[in-house]
Amino acid sequence: MLAIDENTITDAALAQMSETPNPRLKQIMAILVKHLHAFAREADLTPEEWLDGIKFLTAVGQTCTPYRQEFILLSDTLGLSSLINALHDRRAVEHGTKTSLVGPFYRQDSPHKELGECIAESNAGICIYGRVLNSAGQPIPGASIQIWQTDDEGVYDLQRHDPSHMDLRATFTADANGDYHLRTVRPLGYMIPLDGPVGDMIRAQRRHGYRPAHIHFMIGAPGYRELVTALYLRKDDHINSDTVFGVTDSLVTETVANDPGSPFRELPSIRFDFTLAAADAIGTGRVGADPSQITKRTASH
Ligand code: BEZ
Ligand code: FE
Repeated sequence: MLAIDENTITDAALAQMSETPNPRLKQIMAILVKHLHAFAREADLTPEEWLDGIKFLTAVGQTCTPYRQEFILLSDTLGLSSLINALHDRRAVEHGTKTSLVGPFYRQDSPHKELGECIAESNAGICIYGRVLNSAGQPIPGASIQIWQTDDEGVYDLQRHDPSHMDLRATFTADANGDYHLRTVRPLGYMIPLDGPVGDMIRAQRRHGYRPAHIHFMIGAPGYRELVTALYLRKDDHINSDTVFGVTDSLVTETVANDPGSPFRELPSIRFDFTLAAADAIGTGRVGADPSQITKRTASH
């Protein structure tokens, strides 16, 4: 009989899982157990600390609703989501625009708008325009462009009193030259939702909890890898300290006044060309989802 102690327990657990028929599940669980055990050994974790961790994860689960995904927020604030995105980008078969977080405020089925329309119910303050290209620099006609963002006070429609009402989000179709243009308001940076257990963690770590102002995009076309990304506004005070590590230099931009290339020259404009890599066999690359879909899927299993 095996003597179980702090060193032999890892091999014992791995041996019990060794008959897992699904090879990827077997590999992932073996790596997880090895690192989890190494973490507990290195931290010399006490039973009280282990129970605190269990209570924390329980509270994270209990905070999830069809409009809120606290587990993804935890992953985001630990840097795990951005790491998953970086690994996803590295697997691309071609170079494309970098991925950034979906975040918890994405909703599928946003209203379709015509090019040039404003996505905000309030007056437009800025224009965003550019092209959707392939890695050879050729246009992708008819690419689908989903966009969503906060208002000029840093609030998403989902955080308003009636979360079923959609504002500041829309789906556009690029024209025959791969061009797109739209109007919106200049978004404000905001604090991630801090009223749950992830907020307790952020405060315990003396972190500010802000995301710099940004605009989310989800762009797709047949034959291309779906791009989930965001553009970040350079002038935001938190551009170098995003709580969820979504900012990377190639996604940082700023509005330009009197841009002669802008279809709305009277508005401060951002020009950004997105590059889609060719499709591969690996998933969508979305770190996140419409929260209501996650809750639905979990409930049906
Ligand atoms: C966001 O971009 O909206 C977001 C992303 C991660 C955590 C919280 C918010
Ligand atoms: Fe966001």
